[in-house]
Amino acid sequence: MKKHFAALILALVPSLAFAAATDYPLEKVEIDLRDEAALQDGARTFANYCMGCHSAKFQRYERVADDIGIPHELMLDNLVFTGAKIGEHMQIGMRPADAKVWFGAAPPDLTLVARVRGNDWLYNYLKTFYEDDSRPLGANNKVFANVGMPNVLADLQGRQVLGCKQVQVVKDGKKAFDPLTGSPITHEACDQLVIVPDTGTQSPEEFDRTVKNLVTFLAYSANPSKLEMQRIGTYVLLFLAFFFVFAYLLKREYWKDVH
Ligand code: HEC
Repeated sequence: MKKHFAALILALVPSLAFAAATDYPLEKVEIDLRDEAALQDGARTFANYCMGCHSAKFQRYERVADDIGIPHELMLDNLVFTGAKIGEHMQIGMRPADAKVWFGAAPPDLTLVARVRGNDWLYNYLKTFYEDDSRPLGANNKVFANVGMPNVLADLQGRQVLGCKQVQVVKDGKKAFDPLTGSPITHEACDQLVIVPDTGTQSPEEFDRTVKNLVTFLAYSANPSKLEMQRIGTYVLLFLAFFFVFAYLLKREYWKDVH
């Protein structure tokens, strides 16, 4: 009985932790941790747009530079704005107590955020900020309602507002199609995210890629050994395949005279 109770409590923990989350349908993102160009672009965006408020203090600049192929000189010149040395942790200057006053909540450290929230959640979170005059900093978010963080990528994405758009009708959890023509049945919904044209420096496709690269970097940061584990795993399997041949030959040799 006790066991069942414990299991129930454990099963409820995640739902309690995310009780504040909305039921916005998350768009999936496919990331590739071996894509060095994506990781470098993500690291640049992180340093330029996020480290004003968020640290990644369980990570050292040097390790990041080595892991994702950035020479130390370039790293120091382009990604380190705090005067830190290459071997130091990725700390920031903002004091949590001040931040709490300015934003209502202190910006959390982001080293491990990809493990806590998941890649899909991060991708959607960073894409769904929209203008909302009722919020102190003028921005709200579809997956994190009433978030304290301002819309920091707005100059890239452009002004995103709530507006009307044709969207596909969903009946009983399934997308509806016209039985005769097979084309999607749509209706006009007015709580949709729309970008005011020509207000951002990136096209929607470019912005998607920027956010995807940033999520790739955060996913790497949450598990920096994963790349190495995959590489070593390949060698281990190759070794086993190679060793098998000799083990088999040896076995044949031993059993040759046994009938
Ligand atoms: C101007 C300061 C500021 C900047 C710049 C900023 N953030 Fe934030 N961020 C915040 C604050 C404040 C919160 C806490 C919001 C809350 O809890 O309501 C937050 C929360 C978050 C969260 C949610 C963490 C969690 O699990 O609750 C994520 C993820 C995040 N930020 C990512 C980013 C990324 C990625 C960037 C860079 C593109 C960025 N932030 C830039 C202030 C900032």
